[in-house]
Amino acid sequence: MNSVAVRPGEPLHGTIKVSGATKNSGLKQLAAALLAPGVTRVRNLPKVQDLEVMIAVLEAIGAKVEWTAPDELRLDTSGTLEPEAPYELVTQMRASINVLGPLLARCGEARVALPGGDNIGNRKLDMHFNGLNAMGAELEVSHGFVNARCNALNGARIVLEFPSVGATENLLTAAVLAKGETVIENAAREPEITDLAAFLNRMGAHVLGAGTSTITVEGVDELSSTDTEIMGDRIEAGTLLFACGIAGGEILLEGVQFENLEIVAMKLGEMGMRVSKAPEGIWAAAPERLRAVDIQTLPYPGFATDFMPMAVALLATCSGTAIVTENVFDNRFSFVDELLRMGADITTDSRHSVVRGQEGLSAAPVRALDVRAGAALLLAGLRADGETIVHDWHHVDRGYPDLPGALATLGANINRC
Ligand code: EPU
Repeated sequence: MNSVAVRPGEPLHGTIKVSGATKNSGLKQLAAALLAPGVTRVRNLPKVQDLEVMIAVLEAIGAKVEWTAPDELRLDTSGTLEPEAPYELVTQMRASINVLGPLLARCGEARVALPGGDNIGNRKLDMHFNGLNAMGAELEVSHGFVNARCNALNGARIVLEFPSVGATENLLTAAVLAKGETVIENAAREPEITDLAAFLNRMGAHVLGAGTSTITVEGVDELSSTDTEIMGDRIEAGTLLFACGIAGGEILLEGVQFENLEIVAMKLGEMGMRVSKAPEGIWAAAPERLRAVDIQTLPYPGFATDFMPMAVALLATCSGTAIVTENVFDNRFSFVDELLRMGADITTDSRHSVVRGQEGLSAAPVRALDVRAGAALLLAGLRADGETIVHDWHHVDRGYPDLPGALATLGANINRC
């Protein structure tokens, strides 16, 4: 069952609870739980493929992991840790690099395989390494691993060249146990950073300013394990909003904060959709066809790069022409070739795409190249003239607990095959 078939149907209708943000928030908090010996219960953590990999990384390090309910995990980090993240696991999932900061802080050493590039770009780690270095860690990269050690981590002033999510997370989780004050300037402001900082503070850390560009951390001697509940997945919520934009209809998304998707709501609004805050989450309604607007991706609170493939799929069916600019990753337009197979009219040049909208697309077999690209192709299939089959669906299952199921709940004609 590594493919998903979709046919156009009725406009989307109904209410759905958005899943917990396992991939972009849960995995980071699991890594952060390594900072304190003890038991952490993590709730609202639905299973996705990347979680399986993070569990294997944590087990390799010496943590005990147990499912206590369908969306709830118990993590015991009381034992002695082996501070090494193996190559076979890290290459399957980049978020494994998030164990680097916590392992250095707790064990004084860490050996983590380098994840390498992937289908969306180079994805360097220089800001992670430079920041840890400024805090007193010695890092050496050899034979495909980063070997890091320190006698003690010291607070430092770190200015990030770009508001990298992963670097902010790694530095934050190292700084909480460093001696003295760490200031991270040009920090990433993504809601997942705020979720992580709130968890760290409940463990006893002193983190101020998460969600702004300046994060200040006053290091403490030790942290104690505590429970956590993962925020609703804003990327899944956005995916369903784009689906509604493509298929038309009216949907209510529960369990997600409107404020985390304000720019998406604004852009979809400019395109002719109505998206507003509801007491339980987000309400949206779309007419049959939207109109094109230009989009450029930026770090939060800008338009997230993770929505870009879905925005391109939507624009491919809108009236008018739009320019889409990708500012975060250097190779995120590969999926466009698959959309071209569906008859889309798109010209791409490095970081820009010109998308000329058409009434409908042509159903075709296509291939998911990464998690969001696969989701975008499925959405495109909601407006194609027949059955579109998205192959290599495992990429999408890395980040969504069950995207076909969620869309089917809203009335889409979708099956795994
Ligand atoms: N970068 C560097 N040096 C560094 C770190 C990053 O040059 O030391 C560059 C990257 O190459 C990239 C840019 O900075 O061009 C942004 O990278 P960032 O570190 O912010 O991304 P990330 O932490 O690797 C997370 C999400 C991505 C999401 C980005 C941006 C997770 C597991 N991944 O990646 O999610 O696109 O932040 O918001 O949280 C996805 O969900 O599909 C996905 C790719």
